[in-house]
Amino acid sequence: MKDHRLNDTEKGVLVTGGTGYIGSHAVVTLIAAGYNPVIVDNLSNSKVSALERISKITKKKLPFYKIDMRDSAALDKVFQKHPIASVIHFAGLKAVGESVAEPLRYYENNIQSAISLCFVMAKRGVKKIIFSSSAAVYGDASIIPISENCFPEPTNPYARSKIIIEQILQDIHVADPAWRVILLRYFNPVGAHQSGLIGEDPQGTPNNLMPLISQVAVGRRKRINIFGDDYPTTDGTGVRDYIHVMDLAEGHIAALKQIEKTALKKSTQKPMIINLGTGRGYTVMEMLHAFEEVSGKKIPYRITKRRPGDIAACYADTTLARKLLGWKARRGLVDMCADAWRWQSRNPQGYP
Ligand code: NAD
Ligand code: UD1
Repeated sequence: MKDHRLNDTEKGVLVTGGTGYIGSHAVVTLIAAGYNPVIVDNLSNSKVSALERISKITKKKLPFYKIDMRDSAALDKVFQKHPIASVIHFAGLKAVGESVAEPLRYYENNIQSAISLCFVMAKRGVKKIIFSSSAAVYGDASIIPISENCFPEPTNPYARSKIIIEQILQDIHVADPAWRVILLRYFNPVGAHQSGLIGEDPQGTPNNLMPLISQVAVGRRKRINIFGDDYPTTDGTGVRDYIHVMDLAEGHIAALKQIEKTALKKSTQKPMIINLGTGRGYTVMEMLHAFEEVSGKKIPYRITKRRPGDIAACYADTTLARKLLGWKARRGLVDMCADAWRWQSRNPQGYP
């Protein structure tokens, strides 16, 4: 994985939201690939102890700044202090339901953070950015697998904040074609680093299926509610494209390599929009049974009514990721469950 062709200046990668779930796994993967990540996070949805765990895995102490992305002056100091060649922008609020209840907080946090970041990047001449977008931007897509050509129809403020940031980054590229932008639309990230030292640690009640299943397995919750068993799927429960978070992290390395390659060329390179998923869907019941098998724990459940806003099935067309990034997910359902369980069983209450 190590790439010795990188010089010191090219190695610097600012990782915003780097103590969060996906960011922490990306940091570990970046180090393995020979990069020097610099982490910024305001710790609004993560714990500083994630850093110690990252250090334990990588045997490196990493530069970390507890900074709010909207504070562009503080951000600018980080750019002055470290050689930074590119940015992976994970920082943001991500709970769909919360975004419906508090749209202004979501728009303000997510969009203002992106704008503040881009101002500082432009000022410091850093023009390579990878942005964490979401399959949520597709809304209730009628054609599956979902390709990037599918017209975005976001159905909530969270997803709309993502599409607005995508558009802002595209406009920046129009104004200054030297920018290199990759917009990654993630499907459903699950699992954890195989060490069991870092993983998903949702604050409060989780919204997503996998953390709920693992919290039931570890005894933090009694049972899981399955939102509907009358969808037109194999067993009536919803189908999603679950992707191992380490595969997702490796997708970012592939995107970074792609950006570095195109940055060397004089010709303009339009922003790329790329799905990161496996291209395969699993039902809720399949996920639950796979987790039971791997953990040896019974997961009690009850069928309840459908969750408003849910769709029957959603999985990615992954053709473009293969073609443009030469990347595809390698880990399967057993890895996703085994790694999620290792993390959860060794850290029943999440990070200390
Ligand atoms: P996460 O909440 O674990 O990580 C996001 C991090 O950003 C947190 O550590 C939080 O403290 C930080 N943050 C939020 N606002 C900030 C601000 N104003 N300044 C500084 N730091 C701030 O979430 P995650 O699951 O790791 O997601 C990372 C990114 O990927 C997010 O942008 C999210 O929208 C996107 N995404 C996530 C999923 C998913 O299911 N996990 C799916 C699609 C897209
Ligand atoms: C949710 C978000 C979506 C986001 C994605 C990944 C909503 C409406 N959508 O989607 O915007 O991009 O997470 O972060 O919140 N399920 C249950 N019981 C539960 C929880 C979930 O049966 O307690 C089912 C759901 O109905 C769905 C599947 O499990 O069929 C996966 O749900 P979830 O993990 O919330 O992901 P998404 O619905 O894909």
